Amino acid sequence: MDKTAVVKVGAVASASVCALFGGVVLAQYIFTKKKKAGRKTKIIEMMLEFQKKTVHFKDPERVEDIICGLIKGGAAKLQIITDFDMTLSKFSNNGKRCPTCHNIIDNSKMVTEECRKKLLQLKDTYYPIEIDPNLTIEEKFPFIVEWYFKSHTLLIEQRLQKDKLPQSVKESDACLREGYEHFFDTLQKHNVPMFIFSAGLGDVLEEIIRQAGVYHPNVKVVSNFMEFDEHGVLKGFKGELIHVYNKHDGALKNTEYFMQLKDNCNIILLGDSLGDLNMADGVPNVENILKIGFLNDKVEELLEKYLDSYDIVLVKDDTLEVPNSILQKIL
Ligand code: TMP
Ligand code: MG
Repeated sequence: MDKTAVVKVGAVASASVCALFGGVVLAQYIFTKKKKAGRKTKIIEMMLEFQKKTVHFKDPERVEDIICGLIKGGAAKLQIITDFDMTLSKFSNNGKRCPTCHNIIDNSKMVTEECRKKLLQLKDTYYPIEIDPNLTIEEKFPFIVEWYFKSHTLLIEQRLQKDKLPQSVKESDACLREGYEHFFDTLQKHNVPMFIFSAGLGDVLEEIIRQAGVYHPNVKVVSNFMEFDEHGVLKGFKGELIHVYNKHDGALKNTEYFMQLKDNCNIILLGDSLGDLNMADGVPNVENILKIGFLNDKVEELLEKYLDSYDIVLVKDDTLEVPNSILQKIL
């Protein structure tokens, strides 16, 4: 072999070694990167409930990070802040719409037929405004206040009797989300405080969870409570009105409760309305907060908005499987 041939063979050989080496390094780099990327969402990838097609989120790494923070804090640091109607209660059952706390009264024998019609008319007028994807919260606000004012005025005019409430709830189609027993009982077992913050009717809400056997001592209900006269007849409502879009000052109005829980700096927030997103505003010392939103209605129009604001969005999911699976990791 002459000199040039030897040089050529040498060059080809070293080029091949370089290419091989480069290839190995590149493959190793891709492998490690993939492994690392996989590791960033390792927990939620392992959770079967997260594979359900009802589960949506925009940023899996963020969800993973928050869940890791919640797991690290354990029971001692955890608290739950949750809405009630259409969040702890079901939106529909076997294709049939479920009642809100208000609807339980609307559909009961406690109101006259004429009043029922008026209440349903109010619902038909104002509920579409509540969920209108094209209106801002500020635009909806006065209409929602108007709805509550008209609806509560009708209830007062009906002179509702306190002692008829339990029977009305018993006869209603009230329905809590599947998995509610496990949810409430687990939180009670681990002494995790649960703040139910509802723009519904407190007396009805309490009766629903009492009859369901889950009104445990770790549960605090903040809602619109009825005020009865000495004969047990409805004469008004206690305190300031809570409606769907003024939940942002809940913590401010319950400072004592939240100050007692200042070490419970990890929060799981559950809601179904965009107004529920603000339920933890003003809570002191928050370290990690996981916002889970149930999107029940107008899914196509609202999904993007919900994904932008809730960490996890559960679309037409009538169960508490996902929250329960997260609790299982933490507790
Ligand atoms: P929530 O805060 O527990 O979800 O409760 C508020 C729900 O109650 C909200 O979706 C509007 C609904 N509502 C009625 O169903 N009927 C009424 O008359 C009023 C004023 C509100
Ligand atoms: Mg609700």
